[in-house]
Amino acid sequence: MNALSSSEHIADAIDWAAAFSSYGRRATASEIRELLKLLDQPGIISFAGGIPDPALFPLEILAEAHARVFADPALAQAALQYSVSEGYRPLRDRLAQTWRDQGVELDADNILITNGSQQALDLIGRLFLDPGDVVLSARPTYLGALQAFNAAAPRHGDLADLATGPKAKLAYVMPDFANPTGETMGMNQRSALLADAEARGVTVVEDGAYVSLSYDGEPPPSLLALEAAAKGSVDPGRVIHCGTFSKTIVPGLRVGWIVAPRPVIRKLVLLKQAADLHTSSLAQIVLADVLDHLGPGHIQALRAAYGERRDAMLAALDRHMPPGVSWSRPKGGMFVWVDLPEGQDGAALLQRAIETERVAFVPGGAFFATEPRRNSLRLAFSLSDPATIEEGVARLGRLLRSEAAR
Ligand SMILES: Cc1ncc(COP(=O)(O)O)c(C=O)c1O
Repeated sequence: MNALSSSEHIADAIDWAAAFSSYGRRATASEIRELLKLLDQPGIISFAGGIPDPALFPLEILAEAHARVFADPALAQAALQYSVSEGYRPLRDRLAQTWRDQGVELDADNILITNGSQQALDLIGRLFLDPGDVVLSARPTYLGALQAFNAAAPRHGDLADLATGPKAKLAYVMPDFANPTGETMGMNQRSALLADAEARGVTVVEDGAYVSLSYDGEPPPSLLALEAAAKGSVDPGRVIHCGTFSKTIVPGLRVGWIVAPRPVIRKLVLLKQAADLHTSSLAQIVLADVLDHLGPGHIQALRAAYGERRDAMLAALDRHMPPGVSWSRPKGGMFVWVDLPEGQDGAALLQRAIETERVAFVPGGAFFATEPRRNSLRLAFSLSDPATIEEGVARLGRLLRSEAAR
């Protein structure tokens, strides 16, 4: 018996499902994840991965930052030592200053550094949700937030029902360049959401993952900023903001943050301590150094590069999509959301798209907590140059025309 078959034999012999927690049993890989594994094949144009382009990482500055940290014995020791759960103080101070520069009254005690904003969502879910509690989100919304909140086995509701639906515990909102739709909430929508949350006593979780990637000017102020302006500071408010360096610097360092009223931060620190003690000291110290050296040119370059790809994708969709197909027109972020004619299924289409046209996307059904709208797709424009985007969308258009003729 070779090693593989012997380990398969062992795996079969134990009923692991019976040993797992109910949460462990609920956590399952999606079929889509399996399909997306096929994308490494040559010749496939993929609009599936919603990730930053590694060619745009500030590699030189990152290398210099690491070198500077290791050249300073005290800093190097701090970078390699255990640290406090709240996060590296100079980084928290710097983030607090950035918020104050936008007119938001807060200080470093309102900030917790997390292992990416994904951990922020996980910790917030753990702090606020009991089984059966209602969490509201847009339909569709970010799959990773649904997964994080699902640890608590909540009930999912539609953000549109905030004012009138069953009383919710949390409202998860992405006002700027949302994943997966690319849409931005207008000022009136933001004000109405805050008023409804206040009236119903709902805690608002604002996900600002893409807010800096704006291509047509600045979006309206964040929910956190609007509420802090109305109430004088972050502390009396009910908005919790999740931020990240993943989209603007690099995701691999895994550094994000939470801004919240102090009593919330104090509790989140305890949960963070239980989860992983603290975010990598090295990553935080390096990031603080990178922020000192990056300058405004970096974000301008990102906006120019991704903005050009957004333009290329919208122009290609205008050229190649058959009648009956509609799509969002994002002002920032990485995604365009495509609605297909009634009756089409994005997941079935993906299979054919990979096999016949060699183009890939994420089927839209994956982004719904309940009752998925299957006749939809998410296209990411972040990873492809304009010529590849044109070719990929042309292939998609051909596929959709042949679908319409089926
Ligand atoms: C909307 C949104 N929120 C949060 C995250 C988590 O990112 P990170 O943990 O790298 O900060 C992502 C990642 O894709 C995202 O799209």
